[in-house]
Amino acid sequence: MTTPAPIKRALITGITGQDGSYLAELLLSKGYEVHGLIRRSSSFNTARIDHIYQPAQADDHRLFLHFADLSDGSRLVTLLNEIQPHEVYNLAAQSHVRVSFDEPEYTGDVTGLGTIRLLEAIRAAHIDCRFYQASSSEMFGATPPPQNEETPFYPRSPYGVAKVYSYWITRNYREAYGLFAVNGILFNHESPRRGGTFVTRKITRAVARIKAGLQSELYLGNLDAVRDWGYAPEYVEGMWRMLQHDEPTDYVLATNTAYTVRDFLQFSFEHAGLDWEKYVRFDDRYLRPTEVDALVGDFGRAQSLLGWEPKVLTPRLAQIMVDADVAALDVEGRHYVDQVQS
Ligand code: NAP
Ligand code: GDD
Repeated sequence: MTTPAPIKRALITGITGQDGSYLAELLLSKGYEVHGLIRRSSSFNTARIDHIYQPAQADDHRLFLHFADLSDGSRLVTLLNEIQPHEVYNLAAQSHVRVSFDEPEYTGDVTGLGTIRLLEAIRAAHIDCRFYQASSSEMFGATPPPQNEETPFYPRSPYGVAKVYSYWITRNYREAYGLFAVNGILFNHESPRRGGTFVTRKITRAVARIKAGLQSELYLGNLDAVRDWGYAPEYVEGMWRMLQHDEPTDYVLATNTAYTVRDFLQFSFEHAGLDWEKYVRFDDRYLRPTEVDALVGDFGRAQSLLGWEPKVLTPRLAQIMVDADVAALDVEGRHYVDQVQS
């Protein structure tokens, strides 16, 4: 008789975010026991994972949530001791670039120092695990595209600077302590679960609301910025593959295509039969003190070593997001009518 393979345990920080929610779904589908770190907040912050959270008594209960915070190092040690994960995915961060100019110290503390707190907790708890760090194309900043794993960093925001710190400390722990630690240098990736203050979701939500007659204007900043926008569910698959490879190294995930914010407006509004120029207005509050003009990633290493490549490109992504926002508004509308009538 063969003994069944032991269940793999993964810890995800940032499980309530866009990527954390897709990664939790992916790992559960692969049979993992998934542990997520969540922050205490005054209102519910688990909307993206509610659909996969089962009651504790359920037979298939394999998702566990724990209160903790990347600013609280001692809590991370007790948590790691308790969970004993085989894989740790560090996705938690203050992840908004514009906000990082308003809260630079906090961003440095969580997005930068949070990573070393987690790495030190792994060492302190003597956990033999593989570690994924959510690094970012924002680290390339002012260095012109195409960008790959060898491109020099030139960050242009407190967020980008904090991510460079986390990138290097992850590499340092790999070299210093032999930890299986990898950086996924991910270019922008979006989905219907994208936070509403990032430009793509801000646009697609506005399209749905304009179409429904709930909004007539959309205020934006720089429309000339070039980004390489991919589809988030494909990127979390890439994260997982990085931790399954024989050797730890760093990888770019991107689509290697370049579109401006203006292009994204065009794709989104056009899909709903609208002309974006009639609705979009400029607001300098959305400009950044220093902008990243162009990010376009070369994902050749991930393609050759991991067999990873993007399938959904930006024009299709915009359509997926518009369709989801239109559908969500329909459900909201029906819910409202039901409430009023009952
Ligand atoms: P997101 O939606 O903003 O999610 C961020 C997550 O971090 C949320 O779960 C948030 O919790 C959590 N968090 C924030 N501060 C925390 C703290 N002090 N302690 C513990 N948790 C904290 O971000 P995302 O788009 O999923 O991105 C995931 C990661 O990849 C981030 O590190 C981001 O910087 C990086 N990244 C993203 C992209 C992209 O295009 N999406 C590209 C490159 C790199 P709450 O829900 O409670 O706020
Ligand atoms: N958010 C926002 N809101 N951005 C705007 C707006 C607006 O009203 N108007 C124009 N933009 C421009 C920004 O100036 C930027 O050039 C571009 O749209 C994209 O902005 P975001 O969607 O906020 O994303 P980001 O590229 O700054 O950062 C995202 O991608 C990084 C990877 O490159 C975030 O997800 C980061 O966490 C991630 O690391």
